[in-house]
Amino acid sequence: MTLEERIDLAETRVCTTVFPFLTNHHDTLFGGKAMAIMDEVSFMAATRFCRKRLVTVSSDKINFEKAIPSGSIIEAIARVDSVGRTSLKVKVEIYLEHMYEEGRELAIQGMFTFVALGDDKKPISVTEGLNII
Ligand SMILES: CC(C)(COP(=O)(O)OP(=O)(O)OC[C@H]1O[C@@H](n2cnc3c(N)ncnc32)[C@H](O)[C@@H]1OP(=O)(O)O)[C@@H](O)C(=O)NCCC(=O)NCCS
Repeated sequence: MTLEERIDLAETRVCTTVFPFLTNHHDTLFGGKAMAIMDEVSFMAATRFCRKRLVTVSSDKINFEKAIPSGSIIEAIARVDSVGRTSLKVKVEIYLEHMYEEGRELAIQGMFTFVALGDDKKPISVTEGLNII
């Protein structure tokens, strides 16, 4: 399998409805909840890519481009963006869909970096053992 094919297979999409337990006092998606969703969906994509134990080591700039109102549907899409020796970066986008309108728009985007750890909790190669051609 090529690197690009493995990245395609690992792409992860998670949809959720923005119910009140996710919102702030503006009645829009709370930024901290959005970041938790992004961390989790990017973690799933990274894990599916390398099938190793991962920890989040950093998040790059997260852009909140559009407020997401309560009662919307959101879709978080995570895709491996680059692969290092022991780390990999995952791009995450959150799309906003209004329930009773067609179409969707990009609302939030960011990048998360994960490091693969061995049994001794030290970084290990993310690609070791993968049959990438
Ligand atoms: C992840 C951890 C083991 C890395 O330790 P470390 O001593 O920095 O490891 P290294 O210096 O060998 O770096 C390992 C890789 O991480 C990358 N890295 C380290 N810090 C980074 C940062 N702040 N941002 C982006 N990449 C980083 C390095 O570039 C290296 O990548 P590469 O091998 O692909 O080139 C350590 O920082 C840690 O345990 N952090 C806590 C993780 C955690 O608790 N997360 C929250 C819960 S999941």
